[in-house]
Amino acid sequence: MRRFLPGEDLGAALDAAAAFARDGIGTVLTELGEQVTSAAEAAAVRDRYLGAFDRIGERALPAHVSVKLTHLGLDVDRAACLDHVLALAAQAAGRGSLLWIDMEESRYVDVTLDLFRRACALHDNVGVCLQSYLRRTAADLASLLPLAPAIRLVKGAYNEPPDVAFPKKRDVDGCYVMLADRLLQEAARGRARPVFGTHDVRLIAGIRERAVTLGAAPGAYEVHMLYGIRTAEQRALARTGVRVRVLISYGSHWFAWYMRRLAERPANVWFVLRNLV
Ligand code: FDA
Repeated sequence: MRRFLPGEDLGAALDAAAAFARDGIGTVLTELGEQVTSAAEAAAVRDRYLGAFDRIGERALPAHVSVKLTHLGLDVDRAACLDHVLALAAQAAGRGSLLWIDMEESRYVDVTLDLFRRACALHDNVGVCLQSYLRRTAADLASLLPLAPAIRLVKGAYNEPPDVAFPKKRDVDGCYVMLADRLLQEAARGRARPVFGTHDVRLIAGIRERAVTLGAAPGAYEVHMLYGIRTAEQRALARTGVRVRVLISYGSHWFAWYMRRLAERPANVWFVLRNLV
């Protein structure tokens, strides 16, 4: 598993973040876990993330944090989950960092965007993930743009029915290009902070060309990839002046998390097997 996680504990993730920082690459830290079933568990997750921001601040690391709302008790108590998000956003602001909200299964999109909007009303250092495989995402993006939002665009990792998500990869990729274009147009005017969360190097090359055409400066967007995937490309991109961050997972729940990811989406099996081999 060391291929995908620098270690199980936060300390290992922070050490890895420091090493990336020396190479001019930022990081996003995330503790593995989701769908907690008690308020106490959710509060404990919040407290551990509050501590993570402290340690990021102490070490002056260029690190953000990304959370799953179901890990912060979304299924248990929505109001408390929003309070946790607000507490983390405030803590992030105090440490010069940013709080990202992951996007989970499609049944959570409405509530995730609702909490994101509420957090945005109070904090400007909160970002949310959108998934290009969802048929609804173009409309969601349009509705978020007035907020000049920080958006991490990904293809999407969960197993969704065809009426909800494009079944064909070609359509998912095409939608990604369309959404990326929209984000870049806004970024060129300083009205969005897009992050392209993908390892698809052809896609990234197209985005870079399009950014030049639209007059979006290299600093107007970032590319994020997962720890251990396309490592050489991460460094090569950073060397060319693109802002790159690596998402580092940590935590003891990696085995259950990994097995769920595999069960959810057959494509993820290849994802993992290719790397294990
Ligand atoms: P795609 O799957 O098309 O892969 C493109 C190419 O990249 C492949 O052909 C291969 O060459 C290479 N590649 C991809 N994965 C690889 C691997 N494991 N090993 C080696 N090569 C590989 N999803 C979600 O639903 N909600 C979320 O909040 C997030 N958050 C998130 C953050 C960040 C920073 C990233 C990078 C990704 C996510 N994702 C996510 C996951 C995302 O939805 C998607 O499942 C993966 O990124 C894989 O899709 P790609 O865009 O890389 O393209």
